[in-house]
Amino acid sequence: MSATARIVSGIILVFAIYCGTDPFKQGAISEFPEFEAVKVDMPDWSQVPAEKDVENLLQNSEIHFLNQVQGPESMAFDPLGRGPYTGVADGRILFWNGESWLPFAFTSNNRSDLCDPKPSPINYLKNEHICGRALGLRFDKKTGDLYIADAYLGLMKVGPEGGLATSLVTEAEGVPLRFTNDLDIDEEGNIYFTDSSNKYQRRNFMQLVFSADDSGRVLKYNPKTKETSVLLRNLQFPNGLSLSKDRSFFVLCEGAIGRLRKYWLKGEKAGTAEVMAILPGFPDNVRTNEKGDFWVAIHCRRSLYTYFCALHPKIRKLLLKLPIPAKIQYLIHIGGRLHGIIAKYSPEGNLLKILEDSSGKVVKAVSEVEEKDGKLWIGSVLMPFVAVYKL
Ligand SMILES: *[C@@H]1O[C@H](CO)[C@@H](O)[C@H](O)[C@H]1NC(C)=O
Repeated sequence: MSATARIVSGIILVFAIYCGTDPFKQGAISEFPEFEAVKVDMPDWSQVPAEKDVENLLQNSEIHFLNQVQGPESMAFDPLGRGPYTGVADGRILFWNGESWLPFAFTSNNRSDLCDPKPSPINYLKNEHICGRALGLRFDKKTGDLYIADAYLGLMKVGPEGGLATSLVTEAEGVPLRFTNDLDIDEEGNIYFTDSSNKYQRRNFMQLVFSADDSGRVLKYNPKTKETSVLLRNLQFPNGLSLSKDRSFFVLCEGAIGRLRKYWLKGEKAGTAEVMAILPGFPDNVRTNEKGDFWVAIHCRRSLYTYFCALHPKIRKLLLKLPIPAKIQYLIHIGGRLHGIIAKYSPEGNLLKILEDSSGKVVKAVSEVEEKDGKLWIGSVLMPFVAVYKL
């Protein structure tokens, strides 16, 4: 062996030992000894949509309520059209009455000064399990009840007058909900909802993203029998969920693979699921508009790097053991900077429209897009405002 070869193999050995042991505990997964990376069965790269909004139309959005709402994830309007209502980082659900934001509801019965205002949505992560964190919100159009997917407290409900929400579901098949994320309601009052993982909680969403853990589930709660059944299991980061306009199916956002799936509720295919569309990135929530099309909030675009990492869990795990903090790994994962991208799909799964802010000048890290009266209300779990885009 030449001297150079010996030096190189020496460096590789030291590097391998370093990665294997992470002696200074700087790696993104050093606090997760059980961390396992799971393969994502990605479609061929050519199937990942390349369509772009070259005009960056999302940059024409207006910023509303700056620093009045921290991390508004989901936007909902009540049956009288009032609102929006939104769940914020301190665990409360706020209501915009047309003039100001009023506290409307909360999910935790154990709120304390730990939940008091903090400078940024990120600062609340540590106490979210105590303060609660409302994600998906939906009103039952008939009763005016608001249903809430709380990331930590499970499926909940609060009456039209607000206040403390009551718990409906905290487990299914004996397995606790660990990261309840989104929901929708059918005419009979059945609730379809997602639990993103039973290993990682929302405050460890980066580790969930890096692992592609496949313990996510889609569940159905029947309010008459109070029973919860599992419709789909072994999902990798199931996130948003929205019923179709005709209620014959719901659309599910699969976070790790970046895909829309259709789950049939009526007709001869009832009870079966099929791929609806491959997305250009990692989806969060999906909402149906009046016409019956679906607005998909996309956290960020998929890069060749994340495509490669999805297919190679062993390499992914090795990269995560490098002494690079989770924040930087996340930044690499999202392609260097927060940006904005949303897309509209037909019920058949055709891409109808794509709107972007590729430099993240105005809109970034979108969590939900709610269309109402010719406007898109754009929430983000990471931002201190709501963006409004005029169609
Ligand atoms: C209630 O909150 C306190 C902190 O304010 C915490 O120590 C305690 O564990 C919480 N209790 C429950 C039941 O979550």
